[in-house]
Amino acid sequence: MYLGLDLGTSGLRGVVTTEEGAVLSEAEAQVETSTPHPGWSEQTPADWVAACQDVVAQLRAANADSFSEIRGIGLSGHMHGATLLDADGEVLRPCIMWNDTRSAEQAERLDKLPRMREISGNIVFPGFTAPKLDWVRENEPEVFEKTSMVLLPKDYLRFWLTGEYLSEMSDSAGTSWLDVGAREWSNEALALGGMRSSQMPGLVEGSEPAGELKSDLLREWGLAGPVIVAGGAGDNSAAACGIGCLNEGQGFISLGTSGVLLLARESYAPAPETAVHSFCHAVPNRWIQMGVMLSATNSLNWLARNLGKPPAELAKALPSAVSGPLGTTFLPYLSGERTPHNDADIRGAFLGVDIASGPVDLTQAVMEGVAFALRDNLEALRVTGANVEYLMAVGGGTRSRFWLETLATVLNLPLCLPGGSELGPAIGAARLAICAVTGRSPEEVMTPPDIAETIAPRADLVDAYEAAYQTFRAYYQALAPMAR
Ligand code: XUL
Repeated sequence: MYLGLDLGTSGLRGVVTTEEGAVLSEAEAQVETSTPHPGWSEQTPADWVAACQDVVAQLRAANADSFSEIRGIGLSGHMHGATLLDADGEVLRPCIMWNDTRSAEQAERLDKLPRMREISGNIVFPGFTAPKLDWVRENEPEVFEKTSMVLLPKDYLRFWLTGEYLSEMSDSAGTSWLDVGAREWSNEALALGGMRSSQMPGLVEGSEPAGELKSDLLREWGLAGPVIVAGGAGDNSAAACGIGCLNEGQGFISLGTSGVLLLARESYAPAPETAVHSFCHAVPNRWIQMGVMLSATNSLNWLARNLGKPPAELAKALPSAVSGPLGTTFLPYLSGERTPHNDADIRGAFLGVDIASGPVDLTQAVMEGVAFALRDNLEALRVTGANVEYLMAVGGGTRSRFWLETLATVLNLPLCLPGGSELGPAIGAARLAICAVTGRSPEEVMTPPDIAETIAPRADLVDAYEAAYQTFRAYYQALAPMAR
């Protein structure tokens, strides 16, 4: 049996699977995020450990007869976070998270150094790890001085589980310190960011072994052992493993807090000028490319908060089929935007609001605006040479049929809904553990799930949504200069 643990932004989710990858049970424990200042977003690593203990206790209770047979653990987690440790392995400050924007200035400075994009294959976004360390150096020099190891969030969990300082390529690609083409730390990028390679963990592929569970935890959890901890993956690559997305042309769209459009690539084709993210996949010789738009279901949550109704209620007020774009346009830039604009200053807008516009119209405009932003991501990915004929669709937003049909028509691509569990990254992590323990190939283990349903674009409405998308694009171009 295998354990997949996914340290998500709102909580840690765990699954127990068989060696064939069938999910036997699932559990979850919340993790708090604190925002001590506007734009800051921090978590306490001790809370991850507590959440992990909680999830393991639930999974042990659910599998009382068989939990001792766990042979491997896979880890997934939110990317880019900076967890700083001193020479004794003690945590120096709360982890600065992926959605923390305090280091925008430092990111801009690093991004202007021409070799940074060349080496890392990506824009140095404010959420990435390198600018965070720059911020710490400037604002908390006593912490910076003591920093002897920088770990990504899931790799801190590994340190607690195994005592080892190790990471893998897919998560490390989001630091700006990795040579993403060569799949190794770049001494040059580290030096440009004022860092040393001795502050970085060792690297393995996500599907390789990366430590063994410590003997005290083996005893505490009643495991026979030995238990291998696999390299694991950043959450997006882990989700790709969970959904069987390894080969060229396979991809998914995730309608979660943020929106992600991810494609697997068999070669490395960075295009930082498009603000597409080019990261290593969690398996050897594969990469992923993705567009990230920052406020997807978060845009609906924002509207719901302001209308005083739960998001599900707003979504339910819409019909199940679309009948054409509304004519009121929402720009979903509530926290700025990554792909394709790399614009931290832009903010959201409703345009073309009418005296008759009510909550249902505003909800439709929000769903359309998010779909248009994801279309921007698709166009950016096409610039890199990616070819896509259909996409899997996952995430909370896919519960709305109206949103799905809007999205399929705006993208003019069929969207496939997987059957089964929603816990993609945790399942992907468990699958990486299966590879690491058994030596089976990723192709054999990471098969696509059954498709429960396919949502086809509405051919009769594609042109109308295309015209509305062009208006959406023009609005951004007109408003962006005013936001600066
Ligand atoms: C990816 C990104 C998010 C985080 C949090 O670049 O910032 O998807 O991994 O889930």
